[in-house]
Amino acid sequence: ETKPRIPVVWLHGLECTCCSESFIRSAHPLVSDVILSMISLDYDDLIMAAAGHQAEAILEEVRHKHAGNYILAVEGNPPLNQDGMSCIVGGRPFVEQLLEMADSCKAVISWGSCASWGCVQAARPNPTRATPVHEVIRDKPVIKVPGCPPIAEVMTGVLTYILTFDRLPELDRQGRPLMFYGQRIHDKCYRRPHFDAGQFVEAWDDEGARRGYCLYKVGCKGPTTYNACSTIRWNGGVSFPIQSGHGCIGCSEDGFWDKGSFYQH
Ligand code: SF4
Ligand code: SF4
Ligand code: F3S
Repeated sequence: ETKPRIPVVWLHGLECTCCSESFIRSAHPLVSDVILSMISLDYDDLIMAAAGHQAEAILEEVRHKHAGNYILAVEGNPPLNQDGMSCIVGGRPFVEQLLEMADSCKAVISWGSCASWGCVQAARPNPTRATPVHEVIRDKPVIKVPGCPPIAEVMTGVLTYILTFDRLPELDRQGRPLMFYGQRIHDKCYRRPHFDAGQFVEAWDDEGARRGYCLYKVGCKGPTTYNACSTIRWNGGVSFPIQSGHGCIGCSEDGFWDKGSFYQH
């Protein structure tokens, strides 16, 4: 309660804004507490009231006033083809804004699979050369928080950790916080006993589906997907894709669009 709020600049590249949609639904902690008591969200062009030159001036101010102290949160990624012209922010390519703000930040958070891996806009043939954030920012720590979108409480959990312990969370080899991405969906899935017993849904709406059997044979990618959905779940812990009757499509894994996760098995 006595700690100063961490300045956060939240940029948006090529993306769909649903990482923000997820974030604003955080229940533990409540997103209102995060925004009003934990961080100082100095810039977020999606939700801020300021616009135009007034908004751009805030970036300049943060860059100088909080040099070395602010978190650069990035939703989406920069397209690099044609000098970055496929994503223009404030009249110039997004990649320029991204590199400029990364220069004086303390650390970068890549929100979601767009920023972490590239996601759908980087799927073959990737016409704009959409590029994950860590491939353009190489001299700062980059925390990847993948998922399409990531779970709200995972997003606010990462911020809470940084604020509470004044350090970055421990990451795995791919740069994801171990506390949320250290296990596969399959490791904690409530349908796992059916997998172990060889009880599978063979076709949509069959008897196995009605009995809640394992979804592996209808394409579930839980065994190869690292995320916290089967433990933290979604919507404040209510449910997650597998609980709603659909297999995991591996939305937090690198290249899930191209690697057969999406309605192929
Ligand atoms: Fe949207 Fe998914 Fe990208 Fe997040 S990761 S901005 S949810 S497309
Ligand atoms: Fe594993 Fe998916 Fe079956 Fe759950 S539904 S046990 S994650 S294969
Ligand atoms: Fe995504 Fe699979 Fe979770 S599809 S939301 S990682 S269960």
